[in-house]
Amino acid sequence: MRHTRRLFTSLLALLVLAGLSTSLALAAPPAQDPEAGKAVWGEALCQKCHGEAGEGMWAGPLAGSDKTADEWITQVRSPRNRMPHFSADKISDQMIIDMHAYLTTLTKPESFALADAGLAADAPAGQQLLVDKKCVACHGTSGPVGGFANRGETPTVEAVLTQLRTPRNNMPMFMAEQVSDEEAGLIAEFLASQVAPSALPATGGSGPSAWGLGLLLLGSGLLLAGLAFRSLKVRS
Ligand code: HEC
Ligand code: HEC
Repeated sequence: MRHTRRLFTSLLALLVLAGLSTSLALAAPPAQDPEAGKAVWGEALCQKCHGEAGEGMWAGPLAGSDKTADEWITQVRSPRNRMPHFSADKISDQMIIDMHAYLTTLTKPESFALADAGLAADAPAGQQLLVDKKCVACHGTSGPVGGFANRGETPTVEAVLTQLRTPRNNMPMFMAEQVSDEEAGLIAEFLASQVAPSALPATGGSGPSAWGLGLLLLGSGLLLAGLAFRSLKVRS
């Protein structure tokens, strides 16, 4: 009898404890860690558009943001306008919450002006799109051409679209609302004009660089011969 009563009271105590801890867990907001957020901010690509200290650059400032962490998560997962989408396997909700906690410790800048890429008014349409669509923040005004040139490939619409809709590595995703198929075509056209044909690495041994090296060797040979001849003359 005594045993059952003791068992009953301990069970009751356990139940009360369990209830208390779940209600505490429910009431507590998700932990926000500004220190962790600072580290994430340093590595995440958000700063490419929003500025190193969230002061704004190719997109508006985030320092001293008056939006909530939930509003940030919504913007990252289903962005308005020109911002690309970051999936949870690239930037988790917790990372966004922590970055929000860090950025809100910083002071909101008093004024802000969008960065100017300095393109000429008659720059090709595809290059202007690189700026309008914010590709410039990560790829500069020539666009992502280095990899294509190294591989000896001409950038195609398919290659650009594949990277936009199913990006490799860390690139965020640009859906049709941000960059249409047609716009991707204009971008590809500009990239191709940057890569092919002169910028493509020469194939086969005796490209222009081999000729250059040959001329250089010939030139220095002549110079040495000249010097030797002069010292001979001086001596005689
Ligand atoms: C390619 C550029 C780009 C990158 C990278 C980028 N953003 Fe943005 N972001 C924008 C643009 C453009 C807007 C403005 C959208 C609009 O309202 O037109 C914006 C808006 C926002 C807003 C809304 C601000 C407000 O006050 O309404 C938040 C929050 C935000 N970005 C967070 C982030 C975070 C977090 C990351 C990194 C995971 C990130 N952004 C990466 C371009 C970018
Ligand atoms: C927030 C940074 C960021 C932005 C903004 C961005 N990219 Fe990228 N992009 C990357 C990264 C990172 C890679 C991967 C580089 C690699 O694979 O070595 C990449 C790769 C690419 C590639 C593949 C290059 C290759 O060698 O195959 C293409 C094409 C590309 N981006 C196009 C675009 C276009 C078009 C835009 C604008 C609509 C854009 N990117 C905006 C970060 C960005």
